[in-house]
Amino acid sequence: MTEKRNFDLAALVWDEEPRRVQLAMDIVLAIKSSVPLSTEWDGLDIGCGTGLVTLQLAPFLRNITGLDSSCGMLDKLAEKVKISGIKNVRSVLRDLAAGEMPEGKYHLITSAMTLHHITEIEPLLSSLRAFLSHGGWIALADLATEDGSFHDDPSGVFHHGFSATELTAMLENCGYSHVSVTTAAIIGKNEKAYPVLLATAQAF
Ligand SMILES: C[S@@+](CC[C@H](N)C(=O)[O-])C[C@H]1O[C@@H](n2cnc3c(N)ncnc32)[C@H](O)[C@@H]1O
Repeated sequence: MTEKRNFDLAALVWDEEPRRVQLAMDIVLAIKSSVPLSTEWDGLDIGCGTGLVTLQLAPFLRNITGLDSSCGMLDKLAEKVKISGIKNVRSVLRDLAAGEMPEGKYHLITSAMTLHHITEIEPLLSSLRAFLSHGGWIALADLATEDGSFHDDPSGVFHHGFSATELTAMLENCGYSHVSVTTAAIIGKNEKAYPVLLATAQAF
């Protein structure tokens, strides 16, 4: 098992990597293609980081809450919210791995590149179902199975991506319906291509 990554430190330069900004745009496009977003919906973005995905989803939802365990990441999100004047984004500090959950009910829960930092995923997906309204959607974007070469710093990386079969099985085992997996993006790094999958499902 690897140690926890220092995301507070990473937050200082997180948005300076164009690859991350592009990936967030690709993930949001994929979510918009798979999920019928509504401005009557409340969203929750788990492992929101600096809000690269959260802030792009905000105009298509009534509200969105960014959840993260890193104060540094949430500080960066708060700075961006303040500068842009966006009114429908809030944030909460929670460590999902420690079982800390948000309050409220959501029509959509998203996650971008966070699952591979969580050791036990099925208990988390099961718990999150209770926070989805009837028919609510979950949209999980993460690396497809890779050989371990993606992360330059392997600390806090507990999974080398996921196959579509694994994502489908995890969601179905946790009681989600209508599971669908698509390729949301392909990250080019060190002359290698790393596909990113988007798994969507609903809770009834
Ligand atoms: C790879 S970053 C992705 C950030 C953002 N979603 C993006 O696409 O730029 C993973 C994020 O998950 C957060 N994270 C990792 N473990 C977590 C946990 N146990 N609970 C809540 N957030 C967590 C980290 O702090 C970090 O911001």
